[in-house]
Amino acid sequence: MMRSAGSRTLRVAAEALAILLCLCGMAGGQKTAKKMVPDNPSPHPAPVQPIPYSHKQHLAFSLPCARCHRNPEPGKLMTFPETATCMQCHATVAKDKPAIEKLGTYASSNEPIPWVRVYKVLPGIAWTHRAHLAAGVKCETCHGAVAEMATMSEVTSVTTMYSCLNCHEMNHAKASCDTCHKH
Ligand code: HEC
Ligand code: HEC
Ligand code: HEC
Ligand code: HEC
Ligand code: HEC
Repeated sequence: MMRSAGSRTLRVAAEALAILLCLCGMAGGQKTAKKMVPDNPSPHPAPVQPIPYSHKQHLAFSLPCARCHRNPEPGKLMTFPETATCMQCHATVAKDKPAIEKLGTYASSNEPIPWVRVYKVLPGIAWTHRAHLAAGVKCETCHGAVAEMATMSEVTSVTTMYSCLNCHEMNHAKASCDTCHKH
C-alpha cells in the first residue's frame, strides 16, 4: 500500500516538474515554444558553393520558389534549377562578372552545377516534399527566412527525428514508427 502510494506521489511530482519545466521553457522563449520546427541551437556555417548564388538578391525580384525548385513527380525532391533557367537572365545580365562567366562555362559544357547539399535526411527514412506541400506547410516553416539569406545554411533542425515527430504531433499527422521507418 505505502509503496504504491509513494510511487504514485513520485509520478505526480515528476509530471508536475515536467509541466513546470515546459512552462518555464515557454516563458523563457515564447517564439521557440510556438515554432513547428525549432531553429538549430548552434550556427551551421553555409557550405562553399561552386557559384555564390544568393536567395536574398534573387528573391528581391519576387521570383517564385517554383521557378527554380519544381518538385517533379513523384514529388519527393524539390530539385535544383537547370543552368538554362539561370541563363534566361544571365545570358545578358551581369555577364562580365567572374561568377557569371563561371556560370556560362557550366551552361556551355552542359554540366549540371555541383551544388553542395544543405539539408539531408538520413538515408532509408521515408520522406517526401509532396505530402507536406499538399498539407499546406510553407517552405519557410522548415527552411527558415530564405528570402533574407545571402548564403544558404542549415538554420533549422528539420532533419532530426525530434522535429519530424514534434510537428506531426502538433498537426495530428501520423506518428507511428512505420510512418517514417519502413521495413
Ligand atoms: C515539412 C518540412 C519541409 C517543407 C515544408 C519544405 N522542405 Fe525542403 N527539405 C526538407 C527536408 C527534410 C529536406 C532534406 C530531404 C532529403 O534529404 O531528401 C529538404 C530538402 C530540400 C531541398 C534539397 C533536396 C531536394 O529536394 O531537391 C530543396 C531544394 C528544398 N528542400 C526546397 C524547398 C522548397 C522550395 C520548399 C517549399 C516549396 C520546401 N523545400 C518545403 C523539409 C521541408
Ligand atoms: C529573373 C532573372 C534571373 C535569374 C533567373 C537568375 N538571376 Fe542571377 N541575377 C539576376 C540579377 C538582376 C542580378 C543582379 C545583377 C547586378 O547586380 O548587376 C543577379 C545576380 C547574380 C549573381 C551575382 C553576380 C555578381 O557577381 O554581382 C550571381 C552569382 C547570380 N546572379 C547567379 C545566378 C544563378 C546561379 C542563377 C540560377 C540558379 C541565377 N542567377 C538566376 C537575375 C537573375
Ligand atoms: C533563381 C533560382 C532560385 C529561386 C527562385 C529559389 N531558389 Fe532555392 N536554390 C537555388 C539554388 C541555385 C540553390 C543551391 C545553392 C544554395 O544552396 O544556395 C538553392 C538551394 C535552396 C535550398 C537548400 C537545399 C539543400 O538542402 O541543399 C533551399 C532550402 C531553398 N533553395 C529554398 C528556396 C525557397 C524556399 C525559395 C522561394 C522562397 C527558393 N529557394 C527560391 C535557386 C533558387
Ligand atoms: C512542419 C510540420 C512537419 C514537419 C517538420 C514534418 N512533417 Fe511530415 N507531415 C506533416 C503533415 C501535416 C503531414 C500530412 C498529414 C496528412 O496528410 O494526413 C505529413 C506527412 C508525412 C508523411 C506521409 C504520411 C502518410 O503516409 O500519409 C511522411 C512519410 C512524413 N510526413 C515524414 C516526415 C519526416 C521524415 C519528417 C522529418 C524529416 C517530417 N515528416 C517533418 C507535417 C510535418
Ligand atoms: C515523422 C517521422 C519519424 C517517426 C514517426 C519516427 N522516426 Fe525515428 N527517425 C526519423 C528521422 C528523420 C531519423 C534520422 C534522424 C537524424 O538523422 O538525426 C530517425 C532516426 C531514428 C533512429 C536512429 C537512427 C537510425 O539508425 O535509424 C532510431 C533508433 C529511430 N529513429 C527509432 C524510431 C522509433 C522507435 C519510432 C517510433 C516510436 C520512430 N523512430 C518514429 C523520423 C521518424
